[in-house]
Amino acid sequence: MLSIPSTRDGIAHGLLAAALGVLAWSLSPALAVASDGHFRSHSLFQVVRDTTRAVRRGRETFRYDTFGDEAFWTDTLRLHEAIAGADLGGVGDGVDPLTALAVGLKVDVRKLPRSLRRALRRGDVDLTSPATTLALLQLDAVVGLRGTLNGDQLTSIGITCALCHSTVDDSLAPGIGRRLDGWANRDLNPGVIIALAPDLSAFTNLLGVDEATVKAVLNSWGPGKFDASLLLDGKAFRPDGGSAAVLIPPAFGLAGVNLHTWTGWGGISHWNAFVATLEMGGQGTLYDPRLNDFSRFPVAAANNFGNVRPEVDRVTPKLADLQMYQLALQAPGAPRNSFDRQAAERGKAVFSGSGDCARCHVPPLFTEPGWNLHTPVEMGIDAFQAERGPEDRYRTAPLRGLWTHTKGGFYHDGRFATLLDVIEHYDAHFDLALSGDQKNDLVEYLKSL
Ligand code: HEC
Ligand code: HEC
Repeated sequence: MLSIPSTRDGIAHGLLAAALGVLAWSLSPALAVASDGHFRSHSLFQVVRDTTRAVRRGRETFRYDTFGDEAFWTDTLRLHEAIAGADLGGVGDGVDPLTALAVGLKVDVRKLPRSLRRALRRGDVDLTSPATTLALLQLDAVVGLRGTLNGDQLTSIGITCALCHSTVDDSLAPGIGRRLDGWANRDLNPGVIIALAPDLSAFTNLLGVDEATVKAVLNSWGPGKFDASLLLDGKAFRPDGGSAAVLIPPAFGLAGVNLHTWTGWGGISHWNAFVATLEMGGQGTLYDPRLNDFSRFPVAAANNFGNVRPEVDRVTPKLADLQMYQLALQAPGAPRNSFDRQAAERGKAVFSGSGDCARCHVPPLFTEPGWNLHTPVEMGIDAFQAERGPEDRYRTAPLRGLWTHTKGGFYHDGRFATLLDVIEHYDAHFDLALSGDQKNDLVEYLKSL
């Protein structure tokens, strides 16, 4: 009997001590700075708080920042005029929402007022009028596109990272839903969108070809593909005549992965500066002297793309937070019932065993810790795209979240239509002698990652 109150006292005492401990812990950064002005201690509280803030800012940048690339998409290409159409002060037919959805643009349902959502569900919205597209742009509801309107006139358009590296969950209708940041938009047809631009002289001048040729090249890319090297080396077609464009990869699941892009251009931050400046046309500093190689990158070298120094730098101040955001985006787990669990379990054993996949796709990163590149000969494929990068190699693709980007095929150019085709390639190239069952089990395992 007597021990009960004292136990209660003990618990109360313990709770008080714990509360004081948490308080002291949360105040500790301030205390550390106060007692020693020379360095900041990194308490876990402080690290988590700073990281959360950085990730939040990085998300804003990823979704909404154009880095001033309106200078390219509006002032140079005049793409805004093609979107508006002649009736609304632009040129041509304009881009109505049906066309926009058909070329893979996505609509963020969270930006739509409730009345508009209801009207959309009822089918009461005119999806054949460019004016509706402009209204969506005014609501900031088109994923990865930022439009500015003056009255009913679209005065500028710019693009963000989310254009290619986000999609939506189709919760309201196909192409209209909640954002899925980091997912590769394999419906998006960037080439067809750019080809709409009334002024393609930026391309004709850099490449030294006529407009019809530029349009033919852009229209050859196809959905889910973009050619980040076109304006560096001027190569538009593979030796076999196919388009030189590559698949848009996801921008999630990248933490722990050393080199990025299909051909291993660099780390996340290298590539972010590169893309924002050279691909999106944003105003940023970029230093990559590898681009001064006239034989490999004739267009880039002739135009000094390896050393870009604008007066105003809208990219560099964003890079740290942008990187934090991408590192924080985990690859989404495969939905239950989207694969055969038992077969996947068996496939896992093949992956690390007789399939020898784990030699390069080292779990749990599924790429090599270290220098994650391989020669075309090692991979048993042609060297065309590898030689358009700085390392003559292909990067071991991280495989987590593979199930989110099965559209458009596999490998950098989508040459293998299915996962089974990928496995058949390895089976032949590495003489694996896998049985039919083993191959099917491997497919189920890949679908589960
Ligand atoms: C027009 C479409 C497009 C836009 C806009 C775009 N990207 Fe990409 N991104 C690509 C393509 C295509 C690749 C593959 C390039 C290659 O390997 O040649 C890529 C590659 C990447 C990679 C490498 C992924 C990996 O698996 O290694 C990252 C990271 C990335 N982009 C982030 C970004 C960020 C951040 C932005 C905005 C600053 C951005 N991208 C804007 C199309 C785009
Ligand atoms: C020698 C290293 C190596 C081995 C062994 C290897 N891979 Fe790969 N894997 C790569 C590289 C490099 C790529 C990227 C190829 C490209 O981009 O063209 C890749 C790409 C892939 C892709 C396509 C990913 C995508 O996003 O398109 C899949 C799937 C894949 N590998 C599965 C496997 C399986 C299954 C095995 C075992 C049977 C295996 N790999 C063995 C290096 C390897």
